[in-house]
Amino acid sequence: MSDRDEIYMRRCFELARKGLGFTHTNPLVGCVIVHQNRIIGEGYHHEFGGPHAEVNAIRSVKDPSLLAESTLYCSLEPCAHHGKTPPCSMLITQKGIGRVVISNLDPFPSVNGAGVRQMEAAGIHIESGCLEGEGFYTNRRFFLYLKQKRPYVILKWAQTADGFMDLEREPGDPVGPNWIAGELSRTLVHKWRSEEAAIMVGTNTVITDNPHLNVRRWTGDDPVRVTIDRNGRISKSANILNGKQETIVFTGEKGYYTGRTRRIQVDPSYGLSDLLEELYEQHIISVLVEGGARLLESFLKEGLWDEARVFTGNMFFSQGVRAPTILKTPDDSIHIGDTGLDLYLNEQNLIYK
Ligand SMILES: NC(=O)c1ccc[n+]([C@@H]2O[C@H](COP(=O)([O-])OP(=O)(O)OC[C@H]3O[C@@H](n4cnc5c(N)ncnc54)[C@H](OP(=O)(O)O)[C@@H]3O)[C@@H](O)[C@H]2O)c1
Repeated sequence: MSDRDEIYMRRCFELARKGLGFTHTNPLVGCVIVHQNRIIGEGYHHEFGGPHAEVNAIRSVKDPSLLAESTLYCSLEPCAHHGKTPPCSMLITQKGIGRVVISNLDPFPSVNGAGVRQMEAAGIHIESGCLEGEGFYTNRRFFLYLKQKRPYVILKWAQTADGFMDLEREPGDPVGPNWIAGELSRTLVHKWRSEEAAIMVGTNTVITDNPHLNVRRWTGDDPVRVTIDRNGRISKSANILNGKQETIVFTGEKGYYTGRTRRIQVDPSYGLSDLLEELYEQHIISVLVEGGARLLESFLKEGLWDEARVFTGNMFFSQGVRAPTILKTPDDSIHIGDTGLDLYLNEQNLIYK
């Protein structure tokens, strides 16, 4: 594989990421078709159930007579099975494309190498493994969901310069004056909410902050709201129980919720791994955990996290709700306005095998 192959594959990743928030539980896939070092077609998987990236890329080619002399680059192995759409491996074969470059093989049981075998049998020259680490990172939610049978877990919180997440507050006390992260960071969080399948907070956060947990400062779908209410401490008038957005409450209490709120009955021994297993059963590919401290600490302690995004503002609280700590250096650090943002990856879970 050449440097040029890597350039075109990176374009596939760029295209694939445009589907973030719309394709779950399908993977993110980008595809580029190149004729004599010129891109003649591009496509990506836009939404769950919609045409695959390869179909969109082939459709975008103005002169199909060039396809036979072209290379098709795809961030994930073309499918070989009849799912919601016909197999892409068959389409590529029918179009007479001579060479196909792939980043990752599709871990989905009914594909997993079958797409490659079908195309090879038809005489297509296949090269796979191009930038496979970057391909895995692009599709980390999908890989983890299939392999570990749980959602990809992203922890997120905002802390002061001296490591507090909040002042000590009574339920209903306004959050406003205590905002730790700046306006831009808060907008970014709404973008993140639109990218994940679910959002989760602990019981105390629902009681103290009464959050809506929807997407307001960005365009996109609201995630499924998730919380735990083992002892029935959350008021039925809490915003999270307004029934307007799909919501799952893990609870030990009996009773009914209105609208789009569902209950999942749990007993006191119910742990976070049980909860994630249940979310997997509910086809939730990823969850953004937005606090509070105790819930985040439980995820960290049990190693049930894949990524953490931590905002650090420049104010000092001196006392209050202490933020969790992650015992490693950040994998990346940037500034969003005057707020710091550290990214941590749990490498143990993010190894491409
Ligand atoms: N700065 C930020 O980014 C941010 C974000 C969110 C919240 N906050 C602040 O954090 C504070 C609330 O945090 P918190 O630490 O007190 O509470 P929390 O993490 O929101 O909720 C903890 C409660 O959730 C329940 N729970 C059930 N399963 C659990 C598990 N496996 N691990 C941990 N908890 C579990 C427990 O209640 P039961 O015993 O009833 O089961 C537990 O007491 C508020 O002041 C809020 O404003 C700050």
